[in-house]
Amino acid sequence: MKLSTFGQKITSNSGINLLMDDLGRALSEKGMLMLGGGNPAHIPEVQQCIRGAMQRILERDGAFERAIGDYDSPQGNPAFIESLAALLHRECGWDVGPRNIALTTGSQGAFFILFNMFAGRYGDGSFKKILLPLAPEYIGYSDVGLEPGIFRAVQPEIEYIDDLLFKYHVDFQRLEAVDDAGAICFSRPTNPTGNMMSDEETQRLMRLAEERDVPLIIDGAYGLPFPGIVFSDAAPQWSPRTILCMSLSKFGLPALRTGIVVASEEIIAAISAASAIMCLAPNRIGATLANELIREDKLLSLGRDVIRPYYQSRADRAVEQLRRELRGIDCRVHKPEGAFFLWLWFRDLPISSQEFYERLKARGVLVVPGRHFFPGLEGEWKQRDECLRISYAQNEATVQRGLSIIADEARKIYSQYER
Ligand SMILES: Cc1ncc(COP(=O)(O)O)c(C=O)c1O
Repeated sequence: MKLSTFGQKITSNSGINLLMDDLGRALSEKGMLMLGGGNPAHIPEVQQCIRGAMQRILERDGAFERAIGDYDSPQGNPAFIESLAALLHRECGWDVGPRNIALTTGSQGAFFILFNMFAGRYGDGSFKKILLPLAPEYIGYSDVGLEPGIFRAVQPEIEYIDDLLFKYHVDFQRLEAVDDAGAICFSRPTNPTGNMMSDEETQRLMRLAEERDVPLIIDGAYGLPFPGIVFSDAAPQWSPRTILCMSLSKFGLPALRTGIVVASEEIIAAISAASAIMCLAPNRIGATLANELIREDKLLSLGRDVIRPYYQSRADRAVEQLRRELRGIDCRVHKPEGAFFLWLWFRDLPISSQEFYERLKARGVLVVPGRHFFPGLEGEWKQRDECLRISYAQNEATVQRGLSIIADEARKIYSQYER
């Protein structure tokens, strides 16, 4: 098959494609402990509410038929957008109206549009990048650039919290030296580390973006105001120069592929124009269901009262277990401040994170090797190959068994290479 440059890029076996394929195949293997993917937990109380919302839609005259039978505009469902704008205005105090919101095909669809809109070759010949202020960052950004080399990531500072936990912080000195940003972007909380950029750090990044006259993209897929999987006392942040990307996925609706962008009218118009070309219109069922949850006053309260405490207690228990089982192993865990991942840093790991991943897979535990989470980071940094990402969203017995095997295998690896 003869392919264009684009065709070659989009079909190539990039590291992430191979990994996702591997994860997908392992899923069908019976007994595999899935600590690898980004699927949210099936939380019974959340699912019950969504079921109830769907039932009300089914019972309302013509509502279901419209939800499945009509295209929306490229910007997305007007009724949902209107109630969401009112909610954000009321609850967060943001000066947003319906012209500040667009829906996309998952938030992944929004990143594809935004990154290619702000990074790459400009009309004046310059080449601009998406500046990721804190590596490691989300694996799903890696391959969305239509042009190669669209990311620049900055190595963070490390704070040691106790004998197990550590935390990354933005190294503003390094960050401010970067001068080729077309936009700045970070996930809040961060996939893979569970790091939560503080309000002060976020505001400092907002000021930096303003000085550079570039947008600040906040990836709030797990964050604020919903689904609110945040364990620190951070607040939702937005300004007219900020592009906040949210999603219904981690709320519990990943199959409905609904992303939400809150931004200036100009950006929203641009996203809508791109959506028209790429997919005509975004998913209407996700919007209809989420609108029903807003009517019932459940969209924020479920996050606050059910989803956040659920993951918080999972994180606490996983850390407690690791504190016991990793004793004597030189491993540190990033302080979990949100999302549903643990980032394990095995210091001076004698094998690569890929080999560690293979050894765990052979023992029936699926994780994600850390090396894929550093898009745009130049230079050598040992940590690239010393880390694993583990999801604690699966049922508790699975996570417990998986963590025990990981600790046991790590002990074996270190002692094997000791002599
Ligand atoms: C940090 C982050 N951003 C964005 C996404 C994309 O999610 P979706 O396209 O389902 O909204 C994910 C998915 O796992 C994620 O982890």
